[in-house]
Amino acid sequence: MAEIVNVVFVDRSGRRIPVQGRVGDDVLRLAQKNGIDLEGACEASLACSTCHVYVSHDFVDKLPTPDEREDDMLDQAPLLQENSRLGCQIVLGKELEGAEFTLPKITRNFYVDGHVPKPH
Ligand code: FES
Repeated sequence: MAEIVNVVFVDRSGRRIPVQGRVGDDVLRLAQKNGIDLEGACEASLACSTCHVYVSHDFVDKLPTPDEREDDMLDQAPLLQENSRLGCQIVLGKELEGAEFTLPKITRNFYVDGHVPKPH
């Protein structure tokens, strides 16, 4: 059985939502599975920045460094911070037990022209 990883999302209104993920889940899917409003317009293909989240400071160093494409997309994300990452590129592992992912107040999606995200 896959191992459980407990993490917390902080939504755009500041509400804390504890969720249980599993090792190997990515943060975008986990958010969507739990009804958290993280968009993910390009479906994890590194072509948008709508899955932008802030990773709690204690955990940001535990993630692998972003690859160049992730960095490029993050550069376009509004409200970029040092602990900004793309949710679809964060894969849960045991080392993320207790991590918090905060949704930025706004996202921008210039990169997926004409793509209307489907409601989940
Ligand atoms: S969903 Fe588009 S980059 Fe993550």
